[in-house]
Amino acid sequence: MCIRDRKQGLRVFIGKARCLGCHSGPNFTDGQFHNTAVPQVGEHVEPMDDGRAVGLTMALESPFNCAGRWSDHPNKSECAISNVGDGEGELGAFKTSSLREIAHRAPFMHTGGVATIEQAIQHYDLGGAAPGLFAGQRDELMRPIGLSSPDRTALAAFLRALGGEPLPESMLEDPR
Ligand code: HEC
Repeated sequence: MCIRDRKQGLRVFIGKARCLGCHSGPNFTDGQFHNTAVPQVGEHVEPMDDGRAVGLTMALESPFNCAGRWSDHPNKSECAISNVGDGEGELGAFKTSSLREIAHRAPFMHTGGVATIEQAIQHYDLGGAAPGLFAGQRDELMRPIGLSSPDRTALAAFLRALGGEPLPESMLEDPR
């Protein structure tokens, strides 16, 4: 894949495809949670997954959280958990994945239902799955994009370039 494709892919990533809206910063993640309309389909995939909403409820209800019964925090109102809302708007949201070494990490998304980089690009190009296949409301950035075939090729080349040199053999050996 030539360098020109990769550079063009970066332009698509930042511009037309709006990927930077969530995959920003040195690790290509904003560290936030978003609903990217990933369909709950595939082997061993739950029929529905409420995403962060479930995690938040569990954290809020836990007696072991910072503001909970078993916490010895001197001022529980200062605990981050005390300022967390009720999880509304978090339904079906998942944490933005880093895109580093993405070429070596298939299958993708929380379901593992997206097999290739090309399929991931197609998911975004369509603006995500149809309603009913995922929980909650899709993020407003999840709208059909209308990528051309050269756009998709360039974007895939850019994503494949987000890896580093392989680790030296000596670091892959079992130290025991
Ligand atoms: C609205 C925010 C948002 C936008 C815009 C977005 N992403 Fe994502 N991306 C996410 C989230 C959240 C996940 C994790 C989804 C999951 O686990 O179900 C993700 C996951 C991925 C993954 C899979 C990572 C893995 O290890 O499983 C790829 C590849 C990816 N995004 C590429 C892109 C590309 C390319 C674009 C632009 C076309 C894009 N994303 C735009 C939020 C976004």
